[in-house]
Amino acid sequence: MSAPGTVGAEWWRHAVVYQVYVRSFADGDGDGVGDLPGITSRLPYLRDLGVDAVWLTPFYRSPQHDHGYDVADYTDVDPLFGSLADADDLVATAHDLGLKVIVDLVPNHTSSDHVWFQAALAAEPGSPERARYLFRTGRGDGASEPPNNWMSVFGGPAWTRVGDTDQWYLHLFDTSQPDLDWRNPEVAAMFVDVLRFWLDRSVDGFRVDVAHGLLKEASLRDQRRADVTAGETFEVGGHEDDEPMWDQPEVHDVYRQWHAVLADYDGDRMAVAEAWTTTVEANARYVRSDELHQAFNFDWVMAPWSADAFAEVVTTTLPAMTAVGGAPTWVLSNHDVHRHATRYGGGETGRARARAATLVSLGLPGSAYLYQGEELGLEEVDVAPDDRQDPSWFRTGKPGRDGCRVPMPWAGDHPPYGFGPGTGQPWLPQPDSWAALTVEAQEGVDDSTLEFYRRALAERRRWTDAPDEVSVDVAGDVLTVVRGDLTIVLNCGSSPAPLPDGTVVAASGPVGDALPADTAVWLTPAG
Ligand code: NOJ
Repeated sequence: MSAPGTVGAEWWRHAVVYQVYVRSFADGDGDGVGDLPGITSRLPYLRDLGVDAVWLTPFYRSPQHDHGYDVADYTDVDPLFGSLADADDLVATAHDLGLKVIVDLVPNHTSSDHVWFQAALAAEPGSPERARYLFRTGRGDGASEPPNNWMSVFGGPAWTRVGDTDQWYLHLFDTSQPDLDWRNPEVAAMFVDVLRFWLDRSVDGFRVDVAHGLLKEASLRDQRRADVTAGETFEVGGHEDDEPMWDQPEVHDVYRQWHAVLADYDGDRMAVAEAWTTTVEANARYVRSDELHQAFNFDWVMAPWSADAFAEVVTTTLPAMTAVGGAPTWVLSNHDVHRHATRYGGGETGRARARAATLVSLGLPGSAYLYQGEELGLEEVDVAPDDRQDPSWFRTGKPGRDGCRVPMPWAGDHPPYGFGPGTGQPWLPQPDSWAALTVEAQEGVDDSTLEFYRRALAERRRWTDAPDEVSVDVAGDVLTVVRGDLTIVLNCGSSPAPLPDGTVVAASGPVGDALPADTAVWLTPAG
């Protein structure tokens, strides 16, 4: 066991983490699907962009019903994405370039192809094999009704019947993602082994999928539920009054155990929680000093384009995180939600607002998570129904999340825009309009979104030691955050606002004597 770094100085407290959606970042072998060698070849791009770490979505063996979030073997790489040697090569190359690597951990459920689930199906009700999952007897005549009224996040009942038996199994997501029973110590032991497997391969941290879902209320009682219809944006809980499937107190015992496992390794290994909670205080419980290290700030993702809304999130997040010694995070986009340029209105306006919101995120204390392609100003793509692949589309008939997962445009004026050596459309078709948005088209163009990100990330490095305390003010549609010598001003209004005194050190768009609408700046005291 080696000594941990100094508490308060750990790298992740102020890191900018870039999320790579593995299927869609770069294709090394030309099959139209991104892979690990493709990512490795593009790591210099991320170093030059100026991020500190890369988070890779799941690349483990999987039938890909939920694009890797259905894991059949947690300690092997799916041949679609490469091999274990490719994973080692990626981690080593990243480290040589000064980048940390965070991998995804999916502990709430396995794939139905996992050996454990296959063994469970082959075994009798009440067997130790079934006890690793949540099998229960159905209700009603002939057990023909699900054991309770829970709904899958992807639509429809959260239970699937085992053939014509009276047994059903729980899946809070797709039928191909059976939930594990975390009250069974065998499950906890398996995941400690998985953590150690990847820590031994030198990964720097984990992103914990559905971190608030592992433990369910033991009785598996009915949910008292208002009739809610899913919104445009993906949310895993956090919007019902009564949630016996989410955020149970016992889940924190799991993270205390994991904290100890991570602390056994050098280099301040960390874990970041995907925990959709009803309150920021509940969210902060995941980052208490003996639990996980960070949690995604989904309130920031969900905030509408409004100075008041942004101010509210900053002023609730910071005290809640400070109270537990945690580092706040700032997230605007990921592979589950509509891209923020589109959420803020789309087109030129949406893009300008997205840049402005990003500049605010990068100036706040804590760590920022970026999603691939936002640095190019990519918007949500309206993927044609025949091309859609999200399991939630098949279960609900709603468009789902494919629109933010369209493969990256690197170069050239037609698909696949240098995504890989192939010539055809990749696994999700790229739109013609992306010719102007490729990395190649934006590189060296001063007013491009890519060059804006590079400048902002470089400037951010000068402010890592800025104080964690801020003052927040809203005047009309203008948000002002003062953090020591750094003043962040965001104009959410429709007309120019006065620019405070000071020297502009970063701007999300052109700035004159006033601060234009949909623009943010960083200022330092004049002189
Ligand atoms: C959250 C992940 O971000 C999402 O993509 C996935 O579908 C669900 N968890 C289920 O694993």
